[in-house]
Amino acid sequence: MSMSRSMSRHLVALSAAVCVAAGLAATPATAEPASKESATTESAAPKPRPKTLGELARKHHKYFGSATDNPEFTDAAYLKLLGSEFGQTTPGNAMKWYATEPEPGVFDFTAADEVMAFAKNHHQKVRGHTLVWHSQLPAWLTDRTWTAEELRPVLKNHIQTVARHYKGKVIHWDVVNEAFNEDGTYRESVFYKTLGPGYIADALRWAHEADPHAKLYLNDYNVDGLNAKSDAYYRLIKQLKADGVPIEGFGLQGHLALQYGYPAGIKENIQRFADLGVEVAITELDIRMELPATPQKLATQATWYADYVRACLAVRKCVGVTLWDYTDKYSWIPAVFPGEGAALPYDEDLRPKPAYHAIRKVLGG
Ligand code: G3I
Repeated sequence: MSMSRSMSRHLVALSAAVCVAAGLAATPATAEPASKESATTESAAPKPRPKTLGELARKHHKYFGSATDNPEFTDAAYLKLLGSEFGQTTPGNAMKWYATEPEPGVFDFTAADEVMAFAKNHHQKVRGHTLVWHSQLPAWLTDRTWTAEELRPVLKNHIQTVARHYKGKVIHWDVVNEAFNEDGTYRESVFYKTLGPGYIADALRWAHEADPHAKLYLNDYNVDGLNAKSDAYYRLIKQLKADGVPIEGFGLQGHLALQYGYPAGIKENIQRFADLGVEVAITELDIRMELPATPQKLATQATWYADYVRACLAVRKCVGVTLWDYTDKYSWIPAVFPGEGAALPYDEDLRPKPAYHAIRKVLGG
């Protein structure tokens, strides 16, 4: 995501805590008030525990998950909800190139393994994110120029070493992340500029060799609806499939913002990729707003979350939804888009917001 868009548009930086202070968050789902009857009848049976988002989604044969990041692993209250409410997780940063191969040929899986261990202990599926991306690359890779002959083996070794380390342990890999510009032209990353567009097919083939069971995805933002960028992915995935390249999924990141409007044609877009023969995942959903959050904005946000989740439920090959973390406490947004935030279904105090309740309802809770 680019910094410049935020810089030019948003001048007022207010904390998302404003919304909390204003009492805009709803009652926690876990602390439902006792009914009159149960309060007065001593022998009344205890209310069954409400189903979690993960459990509700499973009834639709989908997962419902949240990204997470290692600094959050010291927050017990946060971890309790992460481990109980969600059936899937994605490491927000720990599997990126800068973290996994900080020096050439020297791999470090400490941070990512910590997320994997948490997921295993909580019976969560994991999406691998991400093997090839223009951002968050180590300095040794970005601080020099490369010839194709030099970069190809470096790229192959990175992909295969990381994918082999997690072989059989991740359900998906975002093999190439954010490969296109908004107008559907290729992003001029070091990989594209040095290796040409064929780096995408190569990356998919190398990842498949290393972990034949993980479903291999391309993943991007602003591809939720029908537009030039999602059209470019449609054409590319069609071609990759025709060429026998192992591409099995398309990830819609879903970083929406109230001020830009709800993207048109999300369900139709998901359906057209499903019809191409790939599955679709909603991989990084959050819906930000210009602060302060108001009851009206939070209500609109709740409707958008419900509509997006409903679009996934409507298509069999849409396999699940991942929030890009679940609480405003740990959202990436205020740092990148000053004056914006309140993007997630739980507030900064881990209290569910209207969006949480709207998602539950769509999932049948
Ligand atoms: O690693 C340094 C650490 O050493 C330092 O102390 C700290 C101080 O701020 O910064 C740390 O780096 C930060 C890094 O996250 C790890 O926490 C960077 O400043 C920060 O910019 C970086 O942000 C991440 C962002 O990707 C980078 O583009 C977000 O956490 C992460 O949620 C976000 O995720 C991306 C997806 O991977 C792809 N799609 C878009 C999405 C949002 O940008």
